[in-house]
Amino acid sequence: MKKAKDYLIFPLDVPTYDDAIRYVELLNKYVGIFKVGLELFVSVGPKILNAIKERSDAGIFLDLKFHDIPATVKGAFLAASAYGVTFTTVHCDEGKDLLRSVVDNNPSGIKILAITALTSLASKNLKELGYQDKYIADITELVMLKARMAKEAGCSGVVCSGLEVEKVKTELGKDFIAVTPGIRPRWSIVGKDDQKRIITPDQAIKRGADYIVVGRPIRCAEKPIEAAKRVLGEIESAISE
Ligand code: C5P
Repeated sequence: MKKAKDYLIFPLDVPTYDDAIRYVELLNKYVGIFKVGLELFVSVGPKILNAIKERSDAGIFLDLKFHDIPATVKGAFLAASAYGVTFTTVHCDEGKDLLRSVVDNNPSGIKILAITALTSLASKNLKELGYQDKYIADITELVMLKARMAKEAGCSGVVCSGLEVEKVKTELGKDFIAVTPGIRPRWSIVGKDDQKRIITPDQAIKRGADYIVVGRPIRCAEKPIEAAKRVLGEIESAISE
């Protein structure tokens, strides 16, 4: 039975090894998966992955959001697959063939999550990028287009916002994993930031998210442990309904 903590992904969005380890030790009891993203991985390198494993039983999400020509992504993904992590991410934007080439060359069985539309994107940005009007009018349509592609290619799931997660789960099935960032609890002190398509932890879980990524609301809180516990309380109440 999945516990509240198993739903919570904490991104180690910090620039140094010491900062990351401080958060791992502080939040270890409250977090199901630690996410290592571009900032930390580029700064510190793969040694951070072993350092997390030595201090925690939590899973590791290596979130490098691969996006390049298929041969390069395939090579980078194979290198990442040696690290023994639970999840990694690949952008959908190079199409189904790229996703399939990664899925078909996955010796360690990492769960591959496809990035649909970043939660920092809003309709205005899609217009600037030249997307068709139907996607500008409703980003969910764009997320679904990419999520269907990811499922057809054999990915384990997608990263999508809480505004799309219900549709993803309903249409693509309960086993197709949905990871939802852009989480902002009502009490969060994070001011206006880069996240646009946001939702509260309990709403994301109620709409079907398998995991929620909660970074700044915990990291920037005066008391990060208390903030993590509060998020867990909201997850708990959503799963017990
Ligand atoms: O909660 P907060 O906004 O601080 O979370 C930021 C984290 O969410 C970053 O690690 C970022 O990579 C991740 N994220 C994501 N997918 C998105 C948007 C954000 O994984 N679509």
